[in-house]
Amino acid sequence: MKITASRRSFEDVNEDVFIVPVFEGETPDEGALARLNHITDGAVASVFDSGEFNGKRDRWVLLYKTGALRAQRLMLYGAGRFDDANPFGLQRLAGTAVRMLRSRAISSAAFLLRDRLEPETSARAIIEGWALGQEDTDLYKSQTEDTRPIESLDLVSDAPDAPDLSRAVSVGIAMAEATNFARRLGNEPGNMMTPIELARQAEAMAAREGLAFEAFDEEELKSMGCGALLAVSRGSDEPARMIVLSHEPEKEDFFPQGEASQELIALVGKGITFDSGGISIKPAAKMDEMKFDMGGGAAVIGAMQAIARIKPGVRVLGVVPAAENLPSGKAVKPGDVVRSLSGKTIEVLNTDAEGRLALADALAYAVGRGATHMVDAATLTGACAIALGAVRAAVMGTDQRIIDGLIQAGELSGERLWQMPFDSKYADFIKSDIADVKNVGNRKAGTVTAGMFLKTFTNGLPWAHLDIAGTAWLEEEKPYMSKGATGFGTRAMAGFVIDRAARR
Ligand code: BES
Ligand code: ZN
Ligand code: ZN
Repeated sequence: MKITASRRSFEDVNEDVFIVPVFEGETPDEGALARLNHITDGAVASVFDSGEFNGKRDRWVLLYKTGALRAQRLMLYGAGRFDDANPFGLQRLAGTAVRMLRSRAISSAAFLLRDRLEPETSARAIIEGWALGQEDTDLYKSQTEDTRPIESLDLVSDAPDAPDLSRAVSVGIAMAEATNFARRLGNEPGNMMTPIELARQAEAMAAREGLAFEAFDEEELKSMGCGALLAVSRGSDEPARMIVLSHEPEKEDFFPQGEASQELIALVGKGITFDSGGISIKPAAKMDEMKFDMGGGAAVIGAMQAIARIKPGVRVLGVVPAAENLPSGKAVKPGDVVRSLSGKTIEVLNTDAEGRLALADALAYAVGRGATHMVDAATLTGACAIALGAVRAAVMGTDQRIIDGLIQAGELSGERLWQMPFDSKYADFIKSDIADVKNVGNRKAGTVTAGMFLKTFTNGLPWAHLDIAGTAWLEEEKPYMSKGATGFGTRAMAGFVIDRAARR
């Protein structure tokens, strides 16, 4: 996909389609619409006169070549109220437009940058929405539907003082492609996307993008002492892997003073390639969806790809504990006690609370590698999906600056977060009679007690946890995106790292 930005007058736009967002209440008498009206010999005004279109959200009209307009089509797209414009809205607009247009033998598009948001913010939102909208989930359909991708997109502004958008464009493309990569990993069925295959995908990406890659096999995990991760994979014939990616900045990436950051940010993602619940087995209905239980791991791998491309001046470690959770004669049982990499013992009271076991060892591994700051993402609790639905993911942790950075990066990318309370009182629920900690509380405050469990393994480092159980999977197709894995967390994590490196 080719995405560019240019400064051109409307007469020079000659793509197959020229998409122009129109705000509610705008008229063809002034501004950009007046200029378009002039070029189209009054056709834009006729649209408004007809009463058929007025900029209301998601209304649209297509005009074909008229007057001096060189673009094949002009699409006026309702962007809603000017004051309500936000990056997510613009993303949805771009996604909807591209999904609508791609069945129409269109290969090039131009998109007008309008004024409500900063041009950089708009550019990123349009690119992300556009690229996410084009990606489909029918990975294993023999014959795909008659939708041809629109190959090129140019972001047009006709203001004489329009800023240079080349960096915003490359960041937008990197974020979008990373998110689509995470979505593809998440949509793969469990028989294809095993822990070994997830490691292979991460390795191929690392080789492509210039990251260091390691993956520990079960023998190595055993000698390291990763008893919690191994407890999860014990019931499965698919062996576990701990996947580790790292980004080492080059001297010229250091920003702003050319000085190396002492920080090592660890991104840790739950990589359960299928979660049957194990001996504490889940009900059959919707169990198939548990192939996306590696959504946090996919987001970390995706975020590492974006980081490799955008090259922030800070060291970043990506850690994905990958395993399959199945019942068998060898599986971990309720009541078993396991020793984790941190040395802490865990009473496993419910084998379906497996993500936190895998993450316990991954967090401890990151601590051992010298992480100074940690963020993890996990499809961790059904309770989170109940509390927040698919609209926002939960964020909690021990460092408000990290949490705020994630929230801000999430707002910019449409990965919206909501902070949960995190009083130490919630840790009372996971005190074990027999071991250092138990892996479930009672049913109450399940999202927060899961977070408290993870906190046990962070060794007091500044850390934040994203519970993406409700947001990692889109249950029904949206006009702007196909259903299935969303890649949620990719852009919040990558954005957080990039902003943090830039702000030092
Ligand atoms: N992977 C699930 C959580 C989940 C549920 C994610 C639904 C997405 C949609 C996790 O491993 C799990 O099963 N959690 C249990 C924890 C409980 C046993 C304390 C849950 O939420 O029921
Ligand atoms: Zn589970
Ligand atoms: Zn799970």
